[in-house]
Amino acid sequence: MPEPLKVGLAGLGTVGTAVVRLLEHGRDKLAARCGRPIEVVAASARSRGKKRDIDVDKFRWFADPVALAGDPGIDVFVELMGGAGDPAKRAVETALTAGKPVVTANKALLARHGHKLAALAERRRIALNFEAAVAGGVPIVKTLREGLNGNEFTRIYGILNGTCNYILSRMERDRLAFDDCLREAQRLGYAEADPTFDIEGQDTAQKLAILASLTFGTKLDPGAIYVEGISSITLADLDAADQLGYRVKLLGVAVKTDAGIEQRVHPTMVPKDSAIAQVMGVTNAVTVDAEGLAPITLVGPGAGGMATASAVVSDIADIARGVRTSPFGRPAARMTAVRKAPMQRHEGGYYIRLMARDRPGSAATIARRLAQQEISLESIVQRHEARAESAGQPGRSGAPVPVILITYATSEDAVHKALAAVRRDRVISGRPQVIRIEKN
Ligand SMILES: NC(=O)c1ccc[n+]([C@@H]2O[C@H](COP(=O)([O-])OP(=O)(O)OC[C@H]3O[C@@H](n4cnc5c(N)ncnc54)[C@H](OP(=O)(O)O)[C@@H]3O)[C@@H](O)[C@H]2O)c1
Repeated sequence: MPEPLKVGLAGLGTVGTAVVRLLEHGRDKLAARCGRPIEVVAASARSRGKKRDIDVDKFRWFADPVALAGDPGIDVFVELMGGAGDPAKRAVETALTAGKPVVTANKALLARHGHKLAALAERRRIALNFEAAVAGGVPIVKTLREGLNGNEFTRIYGILNGTCNYILSRMERDRLAFDDCLREAQRLGYAEADPTFDIEGQDTAQKLAILASLTFGTKLDPGAIYVEGISSITLADLDAADQLGYRVKLLGVAVKTDAGIEQRVHPTMVPKDSAIAQVMGVTNAVTVDAEGLAPITLVGPGAGGMATASAVVSDIADIARGVRTSPFGRPAARMTAVRKAPMQRHEGGYYIRLMARDRPGSAATIARRLAQQEISLESIVQRHEARAESAGQPGRSGAPVPVILITYATSEDAVHKALAAVRRDRVISGRPQVIRIEKN
């Protein structure tokens, strides 16, 4: 049997321990596929004594993951600690500088330093693989980097955060409020004790930064992404979406426009019959639009030890087989700075929910303000009966009435201007809810 590929593994948490188990479990099959065995020979974590469901005594132990990364006894360094800073950054740089290929699941590190790390890997002619960093077990990185290598892309969008999709699915299915679903997600381990990073869209943005680079050949720039989370979404929005033929999803979207690349993360209404609308619970999905090709949607588990380990092991197997491509699908030197399309110039349909004061002239004023911005309406729904029934006080003049508007394609700027004018006119109460619509 040829020499095994010797793996140094930093991080023995949810993903790291699953990688160890998967490599052990699939040892013979993997060796047959790769032409050589793969063996974890050394490991690092914060605490050696911590109870884990794997036996760490058979690995050489490194208290310092950076020392492990530079150790001459390993052939490949696998970084599963997380975090955009040190020690993950220094460890990955150390391994690449020493000429060791790297596998990582670390979206934060890649979103922040991906271009530099890719350039370093290329200079050393070694692999930097990160399939697990986006959508866990869904092989979207390889699909973009290799499977669709000859295609020109126009748009990529996806459900990249299982926590958000779980909350929105549960709200819709069981008619529960956002806070109840969040608590449930925390109880089930789908949401962190501090869920801000997930529900406010930052996690999705880091993954979108990586996808946008792979798709459009741009340098990673999380700062170029417009980000809005799901915490303002109410049952009223989900009900209205349902009646109008939509579902609400937190999407990461990168799209080529005349003004540049638009990158945005926000709650989005998607047609109920679209592939992405069918994706419920913690599952992830990514749809790719390429010229001359019908849209391709990949759906699967976006997180969890084993799903993520599957992507990590596949990346290690590529290294064992001697497969190497540019980390972002093209030489790092050919990656261009993002020409950022300003969000005000975003064009599309909009869902707008207003609480209109129930008095003569309100509807006419709203309609006039929209018309002034040349916004045309596809539909308008005023929910008098629902309010009257639920309040048990039909026709109480002056109390606000929900008005739901669906616009034809217009610009973000026009919507903001129209709504600012409507608020100044004092014909609505509270803040309008605005959800962008993404067509198939
Ligand atoms: N969990 C998922 O479903 C998932 C999905 C996709 C991608 N990822 C990514 O995979 C990576 C790992 O995630 P995870 O969920 O496995 O995290 P985790 O369970 O928190 O495990 C992190 C591991 O890194 C070790 N570690 C942390 N800081 C360290 C340091 N300074 N020095 C040495 N070791 C250190 C920890 O040591 P101790 O065990 O001693 O504390 C632990 O073993 C992250 O980049 C994450 O974004 C995770």
